[in-house]
Amino acid sequence: MKISVIGLGYLGTTHAVAMAQLGHNVIGIEPDSSRVQALKAGNLPFFEPGLEDALRQAISSGKISFQSHHDDLSAASDIHFICVGTPQISGQQSADTSYVFAAAGQLAAVLKPSSLVVGKSTVPVGTARHLITKMQEVSGFVPRLCWNPEFLREGTALADSMLPDRIVIGSDDPEYNQALKGCYQTMIDQGIPVLELDLETAELVKVSANAFLATKISFINAMAEIAEASGADAVRLAEAIGLDNRIGKSFLRTGIGFGGGCLPKDIRGFIARADELGVGDSLAFLKEVDQINLRRRQRIVWLATEELGDIKNKKITMLGISFKPDSDDLRDSPALEIALRLQALGGVVTVHDPVALENLDKKSSGLISEADLSTAVKDADLMILGTEWADYKNLDPEAVSSLPRIKTIIDGRNVLNVDSWQIAGWRIIAPGRNIVNV
Ligand code: UDX
Repeated sequence: MKISVIGLGYLGTTHAVAMAQLGHNVIGIEPDSSRVQALKAGNLPFFEPGLEDALRQAISSGKISFQSHHDDLSAASDIHFICVGTPQISGQQSADTSYVFAAAGQLAAVLKPSSLVVGKSTVPVGTARHLITKMQEVSGFVPRLCWNPEFLREGTALADSMLPDRIVIGSDDPEYNQALKGCYQTMIDQGIPVLELDLETAELVKVSANAFLATKISFINAMAEIAEASGADAVRLAEAIGLDNRIGKSFLRTGIGFGGGCLPKDIRGFIARADELGVGDSLAFLKEVDQINLRRRQRIVWLATEELGDIKNKKITMLGISFKPDSDDLRDSPALEIALRLQALGGVVTVHDPVALENLDKKSSGLISEADLSTAVKDADLMILGTEWADYKNLDPEAVSSLPRIKTIIDGRNVLNVDSWQIAGWRIIAPGRNIVNV
């Protein structure tokens, strides 16, 4: 099939490459011409395991091309995917849908009536129907629109796109869905379930799934607060409740909480949308989910202060700064916020991360970037594990023992083996646990 993908951020780039891997002919559209040049040269503008190789393969097989204009789009594509971002509006809770409306407006100007428009961006419920009206004002006909949310996770984005748990399609007419199902036929043949829904339900699937995941994480982090106050162990608690099949163990990892470009802004946008719909009470609990999550960051600052006394001039090394491992994304990163709060208290904070230092340096945050792990931890008064990269999970505590001045580590992600760190002479502190250090 001939496909266009509009917006080449995380979602759009991954989707474009995934579609090329399925054998379609893909044109990627992105207004940022430097991004277009990078992608044409086979260079990903962000870190995502396996995606750059797949991009280069797609380029060399001639299945993908990139451009910054819509001019020949109508002739060149039968399905147009809208994949632009919907960031949180600065100073507000709501999602900014202006990029979606701008992309749809530009597309409507060149759209053929027979073409299918597919929204993949995460939008407030009701956006798709509003888009139909806006596009019709430009094109003069009712566009064939489907909403097809994407559930990819950073770090496993391509695999999630190629082998999703489900394909969700929302539209006003089951006939519109046929072309889209044809596009995904190879995946459908592998047994991936397809849910055909109305537009509003399809829009809601994405935000409500993210709200549920965020709630699960905040639930276990609320239990961590109870564990801290009562002497219990939230990690063992998560293990025990997670073995109940009705609960399940995924998304019950307690620690410094969730961050990234999706979960935090999606729950806030969802709260704002519920308010607009006059049902704010229905999502009042999500405000608490957000608050529990944000409190976890301050908990680490509190633990560091308890350990070091005055933070001023203390050398603190943050291991990992991206919001999750296998990503260089710093958006709403809990580790970054903790590092900045410690810096604001006068701490001298050095940051190590396998891939995110370049993005950190662009922020001019004053945090010290150090690419060499031994140098980063040398002379530290305190180490904090902020992102559970494999490099840190597999650290040999004996091997790092001679480097820092004081052997204390806060395991913000609860991934270190407490016994082996203690045997190597470390004091180990972790949120949600009451570890006895001798
Ligand atoms: C999320 C959704 O999982 C994905 O389906 C959606 O398309 C986009 O948003 P992503 O933001 O890539 O994906 O990361 P995810 O793996 O969901 O983790 C989000 C945050 O939660 C990370 O900061 C992670 O460290 C944290 N997390 C996750 C926990 O703190 N505990 C857990 O048990 C799981």
